[in-house]
Amino acid sequence: MQDKTRTVSLSEIEEQKGYMAAVRADNEWFAAENGFRRKAFVLTLGCQQNQSDSEKLCGMAEQMGYEITDKPEEAYLIAVNTCAIREHAEKRALSLVGQYKHIKAKRPELVIAMCGCMVVQEHRINDIKHRYPYVDLLFGTSSIHRFPELLAEKLKCKRRVLLSDEKEYVVAEDMPIRRESTYRAWVSAMYGCNNFCSYCIVPYVRGRERSRRKEEIVAEVRELVEKGYKDITLLGQNVNSYGKDMGADYDFADLLAELDGIEGDYLLHFMTSHPKDASRKLIDVMADSKHIAHHFHLPMQSGSDAVLKAMNRKYDFERYIGIVDYIREKMPDATITSDIIVGFPSETEEDFEATLSALSRARFDMIFSFIYSPRKGTPAAEMEQIPDKVKSERFERLLALQNSISLEANKPLEGKTLRVLCDGRSKNKAEAITGRTEGGKIVFFDGDQSMEGSFVDVEIERGDTFALYGKIKK
Ligand code: SAH
Ligand code: SF4
Ligand code: F3S
Repeated sequence: MQDKTRTVSLSEIEEQKGYMAAVRADNEWFAAENGFRRKAFVLTLGCQQNQSDSEKLCGMAEQMGYEITDKPEEAYLIAVNTCAIREHAEKRALSLVGQYKHIKAKRPELVIAMCGCMVVQEHRINDIKHRYPYVDLLFGTSSIHRFPELLAEKLKCKRRVLLSDEKEYVVAEDMPIRRESTYRAWVSAMYGCNNFCSYCIVPYVRGRERSRRKEEIVAEVRELVEKGYKDITLLGQNVNSYGKDMGADYDFADLLAELDGIEGDYLLHFMTSHPKDASRKLIDVMADSKHIAHHFHLPMQSGSDAVLKAMNRKYDFERYIGIVDYIREKMPDATITSDIIVGFPSETEEDFEATLSALSRARFDMIFSFIYSPRKGTPAAEMEQIPDKVKSERFERLLALQNSISLEANKPLEGKTLRVLCDGRSKNKAEAITGRTEGGKIVFFDGDQSMEGSFVDVEIERGDTFALYGKIKK
């Protein structure tokens, strides 16, 4: 079947609301009988897009009368929102559901759902069908809005509901959403990806590019700003190709410019940008804006033109570095971050060294680096693979170089005062308050919990490789 895209009609969403009401009635009855509510636990693996989807799953679960919990052992409903980007993510999902089996042994009423990117792949669906009989519900990224219907069916018919033939990718508006934070928010600008980088599974599990209507995005951002949200991130696998699928007469830069006009004290981020669509117009809009963070996450993947070609990335290093230079020219204070893959099939020592020199030239503030992981069904998985030992040795060399560059990028911040959005007490360093700069750098400082969710000025005393340390500017 061909992949298709469409917008879910309001009547379909209304229908889902009907299912939500039905499940809710049952949960209300349970609460009245037992003196407590059934709880739901949602576990999220993968990227921001999945985190955003999980906020919708939680929103629906709450509407269906569940109380959201962070303890799987007390849940009556567990949903694992999976990721397929690397093998590790898939293994983690399977090992987690394996653990939840033990909870189900004690509470047979427990419904275990798996959704997200991993369970769109046929071999995974078959695997779960046969080897994980305690998984009751299975649905992919394009059926999130049908969660109430599928759950209602499972509860009513007491049988497994495993969706397998989802090839229609949708945009669904007007769904309940339960945001994790009261000051940081995700807003989807578009879904899917058309790029088919030869290593990547995303286009196969998230479908074709489809943009939300500009009016919907503007209304959502305006509402968030009015509610006091301070940091809003526009999401899309390839967010800067926004609008192209609709044949719109506006592009991503125009969308950003319009959003920037919303009055208030907030920052706008966006991710992820593909270098092939990173236009000068976009950078100009950022430089001239009031609210758009001077932060560019621009995955380079490799510094070798031969590898970039084999990856089907559609740019060479010269084009890439031209964008970086233009960002720095227009916004000297910009934070630039990137993604790098090491050990892509065909990567020679020379290619890898080209990546190292590209890092020295680009001087990213930070990178996310990954060891190439073959993904079934993608062209690169069929190519001749590089030995694991070579991959991990290159990975270590890459990290060592980037760590020294990150340190060099953070040192000059010593003595400067930066505006930081405070996240309250740090989970890892209980004695410190933490927050993030406009460019997303982590800062530890001496504030107090009451500052969570507000902007504070922090004087940086020490710039380290992975974080900045400072004190509140008096
Ligand atoms: N849409 C974004 C992000 C995609 S996933 C983009 O195009 O940049 C995030 C990162 O995971 C990618 O940038 C890439 O560096 C990495 N990645 C994707 N597939 C991978 C694979 N098979 N093995 C290792 N890393 C991978
Ligand atoms: Fe994957 Fe490439 Fe699409 Fe990013 S742009 S999601 S790396 S196919
Ligand atoms: Fe993973 Fe899907 Fe995101 S594969 S990285 S959760 S789009």
